[in-house]
Amino acid sequence: MSILITGGAGFIGSHAVVELLENGYEIVVVDNLSNSNIESLKRVKELTGKDFPFYEIDLLNQTALEQVFNDQKIDAVMHFAGLKAVGESVEKPGYYYHNNLTGTLILTSVMKKYNVKKIVFSSSATVYGDPSMVPIDESFPLSATNPYGRSKLMIEEILRDIYVSDNSWRIAILRYFNPIGAHKSGRIGENPTGIPNNLMPYITQVAIGKRDVVQVFGDDYDTYDGTGVRDYIHVVDLVKGHLKALQYLDENEGVETFNLGTGIGYSVLDLINNFKKVTSNDIPYTVIERRPGDIGVCYANPDKAKKLLGWQAERDLEEMCQDSWKWQSENPEGFQ
Ligand code: NAD
Ligand code: WQD
Repeated sequence: MSILITGGAGFIGSHAVVELLENGYEIVVVDNLSNSNIESLKRVKELTGKDFPFYEIDLLNQTALEQVFNDQKIDAVMHFAGLKAVGESVEKPGYYYHNNLTGTLILTSVMKKYNVKKIVFSSSATVYGDPSMVPIDESFPLSATNPYGRSKLMIEEILRDIYVSDNSWRIAILRYFNPIGAHKSGRIGENPTGIPNNLMPYITQVAIGKRDVVQVFGDDYDTYDGTGVRDYIHVVDLVKGHLKALQYLDENEGVETFNLGTGIGYSVLDLINNFKKVTSNDIPYTVIERRPGDIGVCYANPDKAKKLLGWQAERDLEEMCQDSWKWQSENPEGFQ
């Protein structure tokens, strides 16, 4: 079976590429490298000892994308390509909507043209907005507080409409909670440009001496230590969920949504303290005001994925910290 991976040079996509290759899939990668580095794919080839076609193209370029479908045999698509920085999406909503929505519209129309109707889509727990309770299951009301989140919500709706128009589509919408960690080898990992938006890469950059201090965004949330609680999930567990989703689509028509999380919430201070303990690094932090748009608590009920996909996360917070640190400490400049 041959899988097209959009955004395959990125953080999660590159880990999915490794997992697919190790499980005997043929793959084709497209990425415009707008938020990634070709070096990630070179390292994937080294790690797996396998080669695969890579097209440096933009999903917005329909002609180039059609050429990929012409050149290659494709049975299904894993669609990771998208812009993901929440703050930037507030500043540049048009850019985000155009890239994420139009990119997906072009991709699905080309898929239809070439009769490829199986897709696994990267959605996000952000589509739950500020949930009224936890743990969050897939039936919770959806909302968005920023253009990035809204682009994910809109794509989910588009995919459901595509299925209504043609019941032979098989669509898995995967709502990720907070992916961290890295491949065990330390050869691939998250490679943010500039100041990291997310907590774990910020912590690892403090550990390595690139930044002085972690700024904790608020300690007055209604949580056990006052700091925000999230469902951190190891990126390798996350991509294993994608393979299970793909297998599920082989056997089931329809559109189905799954939470991919561990079901366990950890606070900002839990993450800092765990990282300190596991890596023996000092992580100075200071509490500042809340980050606008942040919510207090967010963690998954992952029962549906366990029941229907036979998937559950296996790696604990300690392993997530260890692997994030191995990646960062062995690649202080990321892929540069
Ligand atoms: P990433 O930025 O590392 O990877 C995305 C990749 O898509 C990049 O390599 C980028 O160059 C590529 N890309 C973007 N727009 C493109 C376009 N128009 N054409 C071709 N390639 C394009 O991000 P990631 O963390 O690996 O996230 C992958 C997906 O998962 C994204 O859709 C993201 O929104 C979603 N997601 C991520 C998280 C997270 O915390 N990392 C959480 C929930 C959902
Ligand atoms: C985690 C916790 C912060 C940075 C974001 C997106 C979401 C999804 C995952 C794509 C929160 C706190 C953070 C820092 C801090 N991405 N924090 N200091 O906000 O849960 O989710 O990434 O879909 O859409 O919104 O993740 O890692 O930014 O924050 O105190 O420097 O850490 O307040 O409680 P978040 P995060």
